[in-house]
Amino acid sequence: MSQTEALWWASESFWRKTAIWVTAGSFVALIFLTFDTMSQITAGTKRVPAYSVINHRVDYVFDEKRNFQVPVIGPEEPLFGQMLTEEQAAAMVSKGKLTVQAKNCMNCHTLLGNGAYYAPDLTKAWLDPAWGSKEVREQSMVEFLMNPQERLHNVLGRRMPNLKITEEEARATVAFLKWMSSIDTNGFPYNFKPLDQEN
Ligand code: HEC
Repeated sequence: MSQTEALWWASESFWRKTAIWVTAGSFVALIFLTFDTMSQITAGTKRVPAYSVINHRVDYVFDEKRNFQVPVIGPEEPLFGQMLTEEQAAAMVSKGKLTVQAKNCMNCHTLLGNGAYYAPDLTKAWLDPAWGSKEVREQSMVEFLMNPQERLHNVLGRRMPNLKITEEEARATVAFLKWMSSIDTNGFPYNFKPLDQEN
């Protein structure tokens, strides 16, 4: 068989065209997926509440269909007793996120599952019953973050070092943690137990 009679699927031009179509098709699919993802990870969308969620109680209820705990935005329960506008809340959460990045909390902790496994996941740390009743929770978180070496928090037997976090940074970090706890994470972490906040 001469070269010109090569089978269609063995021809060079067929594979060249296929490569071009596959590359172009993947490119279009990636652009679509990028926009689709953005609409699911941006604050103020269905799964990721707007930052002003920190003005509310973050509850969890068991969803029979999905078979895990899902977040429910509860009644007004302003952080540090102060109702914030959307802009103020966004600024506070953003400062908390910057603190978390600057102090490299991910060196020991995971956030939304990303990071290191030395210390507990922080996704729902806001709802840890160990902080005490809702009247003292926010303040005890601030005090812990500023002086963690003095307060054995859980029974891990590991201590968090003092990261020289200022009070303002600690309050912003608490806002960030509260906001993060309201994100619908498809049941992550799987062994999470909701906090009874009615009492
Ligand atoms: C050097 C490792 C290390 C770094 C860095 C670190 N932590 Fe920790 N953290 C720990 C350990 C260990 C514990 C557990 C302490 C305990 O239970 O007494 C802890 C506990 C906590 C808790 C309590 C968790 C819960 O479920 O109740 C919070 C909240 C927390 N850390 C926040 C932070 C934040 C925010 C940062 C960054 C600003 C940070 N940590 C940086 C080691 C670290």
